[in-house]
Amino acid sequence: MKRRGRSRIPGFHRLSAEERQRRIAESLGDGGGFPGDGLSLELADALVENAAGVFGLPLGVATNFVINGTDVLVPMAVEEPSVIAAASNAARMARAGGGFRAEADPPLTAAQIELRGPATGAAARIEAAAAELLALADAAQPELVALGGGVREIATRHDSSLGDRLVVHLLVDCRDAMGANTVNTMAEAISSRLAELAGARAGLRILTNLADRRLARAEAAIPLEALARDGFDGAAVAAGVAAASDFAAADPYRAATHNKGIFNGIDAVLLATGNDWRAVEAGGHAFAARNGRYAPLSSWRVAAGRLQGAIELPMAVGIVGGASRAHPTAGRCLDLLGVETAGELAEVIVSVGLAQNLAALAALAAEGIQAGHMRLHARRSARKQD
Ligand code: MEV
Repeated sequence: MKRRGRSRIPGFHRLSAEERQRRIAESLGDGGGFPGDGLSLELADALVENAAGVFGLPLGVATNFVINGTDVLVPMAVEEPSVIAAASNAARMARAGGGFRAEADPPLTAAQIELRGPATGAAARIEAAAAELLALADAAQPELVALGGGVREIATRHDSSLGDRLVVHLLVDCRDAMGANTVNTMAEAISSRLAELAGARAGLRILTNLADRRLARAEAAIPLEALARDGFDGAAVAAGVAAASDFAAADPYRAATHNKGIFNGIDAVLLATGNDWRAVEAGGHAFAARNGRYAPLSSWRVAAGRLQGAIELPMAVGIVGGASRAHPTAGRCLDLLGVETAGELAEVIVSVGLAQNLAALAALAAEGIQAGHMRLHARRSARKQD
């Protein structure tokens, strides 16, 4: 991750928007402005069909983040008041404990090929032909192979719920791309040969958004005193956050709202960086229900005198391809983050998700989210960024 200077900028929220732009451009240090040119109608027309305009959203920058020892200024595109202030406030609390430690799995995106009505022994024949199938898939994406990516595994799935289907998963190292187009192309390239080997008809050929081989995780351990807020001592806030975490683990109705708070942060960074937030939402919610019961994506407990939090979810994101570089603002946001790989971007995003969750639970455990109104919460959080 390229270093962009300190993310702790006391008083940042009190500056004018123009002054903030100047400060951010300065920390980018490359002579360019921030956020740069927005999306023109011409570019919008190249991105989607029937373009008839461009839709604007506020773009803010969350301060105070330290991720794996590096200060990071986090661009967030979101319409909901208080989200960016709350993320900055939680990042300041986490900073007192050294910030977030995060890691991402290798960038494996999976495609599914559905085989209908397979003959006996289909799975064994496919597995025996793995080398041939991998080569066939790689041949469909030579540029990816040249970059060090390519197919890593082919696996078959069959269980009673799949009925008369055999499902083949093709796991592809997509390097710094999200990988949807890549894996879809590969799946289409090998489906006839798979059908032949299986004695089956090829059905759907498309990626799965349940990217459970491309998880990212983050954790933070926060000294209790850093959690103190107006009228509440840190130990009480920490106990309240841990109790809120238990409630989410016990009740899917609460888990849905808990996870919504996490996605307030995650989606804002996905949007700012031109990533497919629908894909990450779908993967996150499917992952949350992987044990048959919808569960929270993060957990908090008090141990060793600290509030300890952890989060894990699929994070199939890219820093090349899609809108991430085609959209001029998204490209500039990636520059600001200083991320050099898709894995680093995933690490930032899950850290922001955990921060956003902490901010919501701490407010709920203390004064309540509606103390006055969301706007009041925004002003309070804004003050606490300093
Ligand atoms: C509001 O956008 C998000 C929260 O409801 C999240 C939560 O309840 O944990 C405050």
